[in-house]
Amino acid sequence: MQVCRTISDIRAAVAAFRGAGESVGLVTTMGALHAGHMTLVANARAAHDRVVATIFVNPTQFGDPADLENYPRTEEEDLAALEAAGIDAVLIPSVDEIYPDGDETIVETTHLANTLHGQVRPGHFRGVATVVTKLFNIVRPDAAYFGEKDYQQLQVIKRMVCDLHMDLRVVGVPTVREPDGLAMSSRNVRLSPEDRAAAVVLSRSLDAAAQHAKEGATVAELDRVIRDTINAERRAELTAVDIVAPGTLARVEGPVTAPVAIMISARFGDVLLIDQREVTP
Ligand code: PAF
Repeated sequence: MQVCRTISDIRAAVAAFRGAGESVGLVTTMGALHAGHMTLVANARAAHDRVVATIFVNPTQFGDPADLENYPRTEEEDLAALEAAGIDAVLIPSVDEIYPDGDETIVETTHLANTLHGQVRPGHFRGVATVVTKLFNIVRPDAAYFGEKDYQQLQVIKRMVCDLHMDLRVVGVPTVREPDGLAMSSRNVRLSPEDRAAAVVLSRSLDAAAQHAKEGATVAELDRVIRDTINAERRAELTAVDIVAPGTLARVEGPVTAPVAIMISARFGDVLLIDQREVTP
């Protein structure tokens, strides 16, 4: 595995793959890798001759400086995991490499970035779209792999790729869960043992909503089931429940007659967790 710290090094690695007529898949990460990332890598590995990963804790997508500072950084373990998973080249750039002096260009999906979770974290999806555009331009992969857990992020990236006529496929990969149902996240390591046990309430609330959707519930009833389940866990502070149309993220109402996406978030101590599920009637 080639470990590249500069744009020119990763470009040279990718140029060599391309020169040999090989296809390239990309997995972008902020490090602190877990089984969810490894599933993205496995999907890319199965579909491409070469797989490139990036590890970059992107400052522009953090609103809260403490959140950026506390974000786990585990470079040595991450590199070992990527090597073991058969990654061909990894880019670990500095902040200056990605945002050089004078950098002023931003990429923003105007509606999708500023609705739902984007209202709780202003600027977050602009930071994501901007850095992902940079990483796509640097690596120029045939396809890039993203988890469905970050559902709004996935919709933002798909929209951006479509609107800007970027020449790659965006592949959404289903959420990987712990045995008790908690969605895997780099933030989980920051949970106290009590909060870790309590956090399972997120997936439990989605399970309950999925069951109700099958039994003919309305959107308002799904919303109530989610709120009641999470509010019954005193360690959880519910921050959002959004029930929306997949893709557009437009709010839906009335009886559930077509698939809807449920996006939820809650705080456990100072850790904000999100989860998501598409449910069908
Ligand atoms: O999902 C993530 O880890 C990040 O938001 C991403 C896509 C790597 C951009 O920094």
